[in-house]
Amino acid sequence: MSAIDEIQTICVMGAGAMGAQIAQQCALHGYRVNLFDSSRDALARAATSNRGYLQRRVEKGRMSADETEAALARVDATKDFEDAVAGADFVIEAVPEELELKREVFSELDRCAAPHAILASNSSAIGISHLASVTERPDQCVNMHFFNPPLVMELVEVCRGPETSAETVETTMDLARRIGRTPVLIRKEIAGFLVNRILGAIFHEAQWLVEHGYASVEDVDRAMELGARHPMGPFRLMDFAGLDVSYHMLTHIYEETGDERFKPSRSLADHIKAGNLGVKAGKGFYEYPRKDA
Ligand code: 3HC
Repeated sequence: MSAIDEIQTICVMGAGAMGAQIAQQCALHGYRVNLFDSSRDALARAATSNRGYLQRRVEKGRMSADETEAALARVDATKDFEDAVAGADFVIEAVPEELELKREVFSELDRCAAPHAILASNSSAIGISHLASVTERPDQCVNMHFFNPPLVMELVEVCRGPETSAETVETTMDLARRIGRTPVLIRKEIAGFLVNRILGAIFHEAQWLVEHGYASVEDVDRAMELGARHPMGPFRLMDFAGLDVSYHMLTHIYEETGDERFKPSRSLADHIKAGNLGVKAGKGFYEYPRKDA
């Protein structure tokens, strides 16, 4: 039996926008999933929102009601860290994008996870070596980067660290395929991987053009949506992903490389200071009236 066939239970750490949907995507493809979060509210929000998205599939005739209920039931939401991790064959960490927090989580994962379990990080930018170094199993640590919204976006970036074993890479690529995603392999560790480095360069240029008075936020977005067929222009996309997520992602790449192209802009930093974190906060580069208002 190959390593991928031994994976039956997946643990997802963190029930934010990414973790909740990563868990559901795994469950849709038959895996049992332990979804951990320390916040009961976050777990409840994850369950409600996943139910809503699957319900739409039922209404559109793409899934049966029975399949939906079975996929929802395969996600076991829990506030018990050790319980969530101990029975898992593969762990996907999706906690907020803070290096120290992720290092603490990886250290605890290493302590609680079964010896054979692979520890993957969904970080937007942090190379796995920064997290693997606090574990006794650096060869079983890997970046597995999903895109927002994970229930829709087909890509998964798999990035190997200097100590990641070939077997860990192969199993992670196989798992991405088994949950209906298309993996690409990044052969050498690099901050920001592929897509976020390219998006980072686009964000940088878009903000430079606005800050230097060449065009408005709205027109830059319109230009990229109509002229390059991007589903969302760069400002709309930053709002959608969360300005804090974009800020932390860019800051990490900038600190790692010293490359000015990734330095977060003044306007992005100002928005963060003001608490304007994008769609989830009701305000970012645009305003988002609350649906219940
Ligand atoms: N979560 C789950 N599903 C969602 C969703 C969400 N937040 N938003 C939309 N969907 C689903 C809808 O339910 C619908 O599914 P259905 O076809 O089964 O009914 C489908 O997506 C299409 O939705 P809509 O018709 O309502 O809207 P759009 O056609 O405008 O699609 C979108 C919405 C998929 C978000 C599209 O605008 C898009 O592709 N945007 C760009 C997303 C992107 O670039 N993501 C990458 C961000 S960078 C990143 O994630 C890296 C990280 O490290 C920060």
